[in-house]
Amino acid sequence: MDLISIYAKQLGEILQGKLTKEEIYQLIEVPKNQLLGDLAFPCFRLAKTERKSPIEIAKQLSGEIQAKEFIKVEAIGGYVNITFSPKELGQSIVTKILRKEADYGQSNIGNEKTVALDMSSPNIAKPFSMGHLRSTVIGSAIANLAIKCGYHTVKINHIGDWGTQFGKLIVAYQKWGNEEQVKMNPIGELFKLYVKFHKEVEQEPQLEDEGRAAFKKLECGDEQYLNLWEWFRRESLRAFMTIYDLLGVEFDSFQGEAFYNDKMEEIIHLLSEHKLLEVSEGAEVVRLDEYEIPPCLIKKSDGATLYATRDLAAALYRSQEYKFDEALYVVGQEQAIHFQQVKAVLKKLGYDWAEQMKHIPFGLYLQDGKKMSTRKGRVILLEAVLNEAINLAKRNILEKNPKIPNADEVANAVGVGAIIFHDLKNDRMNNIEFSLEEMLTFEGETGPYVQYTNARANSILRKYSKDQFEFSGLTDIESWDIVKLLNQFPDVIEKSYKQYSPSILAKYLIQISQSFNKYYARVRILEEGDSLVSRVSLVKAVTIVLTEGLRLLGIKAPKEM
Ligand code: ARG
Repeated sequence: MDLISIYAKQLGEILQGKLTKEEIYQLIEVPKNQLLGDLAFPCFRLAKTERKSPIEIAKQLSGEIQAKEFIKVEAIGGYVNITFSPKELGQSIVTKILRKEADYGQSNIGNEKTVALDMSSPNIAKPFSMGHLRSTVIGSAIANLAIKCGYHTVKINHIGDWGTQFGKLIVAYQKWGNEEQVKMNPIGELFKLYVKFHKEVEQEPQLEDEGRAAFKKLECGDEQYLNLWEWFRRESLRAFMTIYDLLGVEFDSFQGEAFYNDKMEEIIHLLSEHKLLEVSEGAEVVRLDEYEIPPCLIKKSDGATLYATRDLAAALYRSQEYKFDEALYVVGQEQAIHFQQVKAVLKKLGYDWAEQMKHIPFGLYLQDGKKMSTRKGRVILLEAVLNEAINLAKRNILEKNPKIPNADEVANAVGVGAIIFHDLKNDRMNNIEFSLEEMLTFEGETGPYVQYTNARANSILRKYSKDQFEFSGLTDIESWDIVKLLNQFPDVIEKSYKQYSPSILAKYLIQISQSFNKYYARVRILEEGDSLVSRVSLVKAVTIVLTEGLRLLGIKAPKEM
């Protein structure tokens, strides 16, 4: 239970319905000056209803409070301030963490329900963009949090392997492509062709029509075109897998857009059966006026299907296949309307489960304040970024610790961890300015800082060299600060999941690191004496929470750095 709840419960029993539990919980404050107590309850609300002075009420209340968790209860002005007993309460908190280890924070609020996550979903024949990185790491962290909360997850990589752009790519390849070059550097070459196509189209607009026609041919199963497409897809997936390996992310399904080719007739048939299809400028659409959003395009005038058509078929398939209780789409904010449309169409078809589909949007990576654009070729290649981060990390690590064993493995964990953490610590909706330097500093609010703190804690445990851990309470303010923070871990996990915000957890890990480093600077942890075992046990509890917290974010926690 969090500390506020302990206090709220006690007050609830005394106040007997004068205020609800939630009201009490909301009212409780943390005093600015720590010496005045851990928590304070203001009596001004009660003063109005009871027609007494707040000071009088505070006095009266403080006389009635008697919980064993508090060592001090005081009426100060119109407030009732309480101080927890660091010894008693600290003991029960830290003992629980030491006993549960990595299981600490596990809950069952998910009740074994199934969450399907649509995440990562890069487009073949194009480089893996920073936007797809966001979807991958945010999705993966949310999935880990879901499992920690007792949900089942299905992680789906809805690969972008179908659509008009492949018609364009085929046209570009046939006009300007070279097989040998593509074989040597598939994504780089295919992407160049794609960029060239968009440049040429400005001079030669009829290329646009050629591209559309080529896609139509592909959709109709033209063998030569299909072979080309399959080749592009194979090479692209190979390149993506390198990135997923580096990031340490796995998926349950790689069924991308093309998988739904033979499943689109069904949805189109359903739509026409429900008389939802209308012809508009030659295309077939579902009007969504009542939702005040633009119509959803289902079929183009040449009969070709669209992105939305494939998402409709995919949703239907997933609801049957996975029977999800919740379907999360971790996709950039710029696709918000698209997901509103897909959901609205499914609701019009009468599917209640559409209510459980949620778009989890996120902001952009900016470069010098500007949006990155694949079409204009202004992109940062994730693979290059990852490798650069790993190299830089290695240099830093060897500088600090030249004799470190498995330097490469640690450099990997730190370099990749830096990028993931930098992404996740930002509120999901914020735009992030891309800056390698900022991601990789080992000081400040970064992944390497948290990893380094954890490694430092582990090095204390190595020096202690015993396996005996027992916490019988400490009384200094620094350790009590840590205990209070460690106690929040289960609530932080629950909140991060419920708000689909890994940043809550990331910021919390920074807080723990900061308060641990304060402790480390002020207290001689390994000094012999009565509380040695308790001090080291607190360090152990810190490593448990940092390691598990990082794991939930998808980041490794090396024991030595
Ligand atoms: N491939 C798409 C893109 O890069 C993202 C797909 C998101 N998932 C979905 N079910 N539409 O923009």
